[in-house]
Amino acid sequence: DGKKSLFSGMQATGNLTLGNYMGALKNWVAMEEEYQCFYCVVDLHSITVRQDPAELRRRARALLTLYIAAGLDPVKNCIYYQSHVSGHAELSWILNCFTYMGELSRMTQFKDKSAKHADNINAGLFTYPVLMAADILLFQADVVPVGVDQKQHLEITRDIAERFNNIYGDVFTIPEPYIGKVGAKIMSLQEPEKKMSKSDENVNASIYLTDDPDTVIRKFKRAVTDSENQIIYSDDKPGIKNLIDIYSIAANKTVDEVVREFDGKGYGDFKMAVGEAVVSVLKPIQEKITELNKDKAYIDGIIKANGEKANYYATKTLRKVQKKVGF
Ligand code: ADP
Ligand code: NA
Repeated sequence: DGKKSLFSGMQATGNLTLGNYMGALKNWVAMEEEYQCFYCVVDLHSITVRQDPAELRRRARALLTLYIAAGLDPVKNCIYYQSHVSGHAELSWILNCFTYMGELSRMTQFKDKSAKHADNINAGLFTYPVLMAADILLFQADVVPVGVDQKQHLEITRDIAERFNNIYGDVFTIPEPYIGKVGAKIMSLQEPEKKMSKSDENVNASIYLTDDPDTVIRKFKRAVTDSENQIIYSDDKPGIKNLIDIYSIAANKTVDEVVREFDGKGYGDFKMAVGEAVVSVLKPIQEKITELNKDKAYIDGIIKANGEKANYYATKTLRKVQKKVGF
């Protein structure tokens, strides 16, 4: 139909955090009416670092299940596995031939990852941004929801698409970044100058979407703040600012409303309230995961149907590209 399309994906490595939910998933749920949405479990990207196969398979399924449990309607949204759509790899090869070594060497993520995995600096790690470009261009995405950390990847995607279009005519839609409406960046509970990340080694720094209520409350109680005991929204108080942001999203209140609500109260009460609000957000998601995990056939059906749907759109683009280059 006439809807604009949207592409996004997440790696199946690591447990999703409250940051992933409040910065990405929650926004995604609100877009299904306006856009034709493709959400990919990017398992091809995962093998640029060594993975245990059974574990990768388990995590990919858990991520897809979580997408649905977080509220993404799997009929309105095409939620699928990257490895089930061979067009990703095929387009990626073609685009490799339209990407320069120089532009790939400038990608900060390659520099970071090759420093972290010095024993395995493989070619996949280097060409990772080309696969990411292929992911997006395969679905002719008009918009891509991006965090600040991913801007560079979208820029290279646009550069590659424009380069290709300049040679062959209007083949690819040039994707625009989409900054979510809620858009808050959730920070680490232990180092509030750093973003909350599923790859943080300190488990107390992040709230995982699968954390039980006691764990959530305990982590908020231990959250790093300051010694003032005043609930004020200020960059000088990153710990409290982050807790206000979290509470405001979880309780669906404005920052001003939150500050007024806790005027004169101490950090102990406030942390407890934030913890309880987050528990209420996570409860229905966790219940839904339990329910979905009982119905293996349902999830299998979603994976199959959406894989076919994604393949249909991917093949359309791929045929067009193949013809242009002479296949
Ligand atoms: P992580 O750092 O947790 O591994 P990714 O880089 O895989 O997360 O990002 C997945 C999605 O979640 C992206 O859309 C990203 O912008 C969003 N995201 C990740 N961490 C946060 C955060 N702390 N606050 C808000 N959004 C986040
Ligand atoms: Na990512």
